[in-house]
Amino acid sequence: MEKVTFALPKGRLLKEAVDFLSSVGIDASEVLTQTRKLIFEWEGYRFLLVKPMDVPTYVYYAAADLGIAGKDVIEEKGYDLYEPFDLGFGACRLSVAEPVNAPEPYDLEKLSYIRVATKYPRITDAYFRSKGIHPEIITLYGSVELAPLVGLTDRIVDLVQTGNTLKANGLKEVDTILHSTARLIVNKASLKTKYSLIKPILDRVKGKLLTQK
Ligand code: PRP
Ligand code: MG
Repeated sequence: MEKVTFALPKGRLLKEAVDFLSSVGIDASEVLTQTRKLIFEWEGYRFLLVKPMDVPTYVYYAAADLGIAGKDVIEEKGYDLYEPFDLGFGACRLSVAEPVNAPEPYDLEKLSYIRVATKYPRITDAYFRSKGIHPEIITLYGSVELAPLVGLTDRIVDLVQTGNTLKANGLKEVDTILHSTARLIVNKASLKTKYSLIKPILDRVKGKLLTQK
């Protein structure tokens, strides 16, 4: 039997993604079992456990038919994907932050250059260029808040959810680039070739989201 494959994000979004799928009748709970396995099956479904930033990649290249990913990573990767639904959970924002005791006030009008550390080089580059500011971007893969503390960069662009990580590292938000929530994404070719399998899923998701409103 032909299967429908989902790419699911490891980490913070995973539990809510699994709960959401369960609410539309898809049981992916085995992915939460914390084994070292990366691929799981349940009835006609397959679930891939991937890094959040890689979810759009798996879906774009059709290694997965559908995925659950934050708007932040969808924007960063920039692939041509079908993104039918905002799932509403996983709210956070992508912000610029700097040390609370930064010497100069953050003023986009006065800045012509900025040195910034981030996991989101594409969004960061486009954002500052759109403001006429030349960004020098140091790409990191985590613990981005460390960069200004050790003089790697003056500022960072990173996700803020509760604000605890900024606070714990003596940083403050000075600008917001985008607001993010989890989205359902679909490979455009899969939507056509597996229409009879994928369309009912999309209908159930739509129904679920309508009842939440
Ligand atoms: C994420 C993000 C921020 C933090 C935001 O990091 O990069 O650092 O969470 O959450 P908060 O505002 O609630 O503190 P994560 O813990 O996923 O680790 P990483 O950046 O090292 O990958
Ligand atoms: Mg972090």
